[in-house]
Amino acid sequence: MNDMKLFPARSLHGTVNLPGDKSISHRAAMLAAIAVGDTRIKNFSTAEDCRTTIKCLEQLGVSFTHDGPDVLVTGVGKTGLRGAEKPLDCGNSGTTARLLAGILAGQAFDSVLTGDGSLSRRPMNRIIEPLTAMGAKIESDNGCLPMRICGGRELRGVEHELPMASAQVKSCVLLAGLFANGKTTVAERSPTRDHSGRMLRWFGVNVETADATAGDRISVTGDSVLSARDVNVPADMSSAAFFIMAAACLKGSDVLIPNVGLNPTRTAVLNVLRDLGADVQISMANEICNEPRGSVRVRGGLAGSPNSKQIRLAGDIIAKVIDEMPILAVLGTQLEGGIEIRDAAELRHKESDRISAMVENLRRMNASVEEFPDGIKVERSNLIGAGVDPSGDHRIAMALAVAGLLAEGETEILAAECSNISFPGFFETLLAVVK
Ligand code: S3P
Repeated sequence: MNDMKLFPARSLHGTVNLPGDKSISHRAAMLAAIAVGDTRIKNFSTAEDCRTTIKCLEQLGVSFTHDGPDVLVTGVGKTGLRGAEKPLDCGNSGTTARLLAGILAGQAFDSVLTGDGSLSRRPMNRIIEPLTAMGAKIESDNGCLPMRICGGRELRGVEHELPMASAQVKSCVLLAGLFANGKTTVAERSPTRDHSGRMLRWFGVNVETADATAGDRISVTGDSVLSARDVNVPADMSSAAFFIMAAACLKGSDVLIPNVGLNPTRTAVLNVLRDLGADVQISMANEICNEPRGSVRVRGGLAGSPNSKQIRLAGDIIAKVIDEMPILAVLGTQLEGGIEIRDAAELRHKESDRISAMVENLRRMNASVEEFPDGIKVERSNLIGAGVDPSGDHRIAMALAVAGLLAEGETEILAAECSNISFPGFFETLLAVVK
């Protein structure tokens, strides 16, 4: 696949089975690697980013075997990793680089982390600073990859207040805390996804949490031992969001997405749709491996309905819709009052600058858009198909694909294969339900 052409859709119909959650799969692979014993990870994400995590862990001496959609991991325990002979290439994956850095800071050997062009531009000071405060020694290219994490350092537990809402930074510090003396605490003013805490508990770690009025706190101690335990990964809500939005916007749609992760730190996008009057229903809800999941059914007809008032998203909700901003911007083109997303400057540090990428591409598609340093405002617009460039960013490519279904005429997405970063098979899966 290179460029991809999309045409107007009437509606979306059918059952959509999606790959396992990317965030949960990264964590399952890393924790299983440093656990004692063997772990089967069911429904491991097929995302390229998660393959990258496995490749890095293999270089560190962990053995992975693929068994259909499952991955079998032979855990080496907290002291069983061995130094990699070559740099660990984290590709496009911020989660791989930042979470792995936490584990590597506590090892006896040196490691070098590299990444592709996009990842090498993304800020690493946000993890270098707390890890250094814990006693780690890290050399970087001005706060970016490549980064050398020097081994043999004794880490001490710290209390780190996150200066920005970032689950990757929180998780990095907690993982380093597993190798530090005493207790490590992360405090966050704006709660982010909590998969690391849930997965650590699943592997038997004593995780302390407190919901202070001023934000959340989570702590682990350096004497924790991880015990291998099978993991079952739900489908990825952030991938589901593209189908959910497309179905909500297209009248007559009826889409069922089974077995999706319904962790409350990831489902704010469903609440946004419900507030707009969309028909979103959950069934078969249950909890497996400490993660809630269920089936999501969406019936369409939101666009142009009198309920489609303006939405303004700002403050604490931003961390909970951070990966859904590109598709929420597309949704804005369908709402009477449009959408405004603010307090979201973090979006400029993702796989691309997601604010300018959406501003630029939606404008190419005839949308009326305003750009702010910390967000975007999109007015109701008649989208017209155009040539668009997702700048190598998977979520931009998938959001523009949905825009293409809602637009008049032909939309051509340049180098659309970047969607493989989180969702190989996205276009085939989408086109299979388009009517
Ligand atoms: C992720 C955290 C978020 C998110 C990313 C996955 C994670 O990044 O955007 O797609 O798995 O922890 P930040 O921590 O940089 O906000």
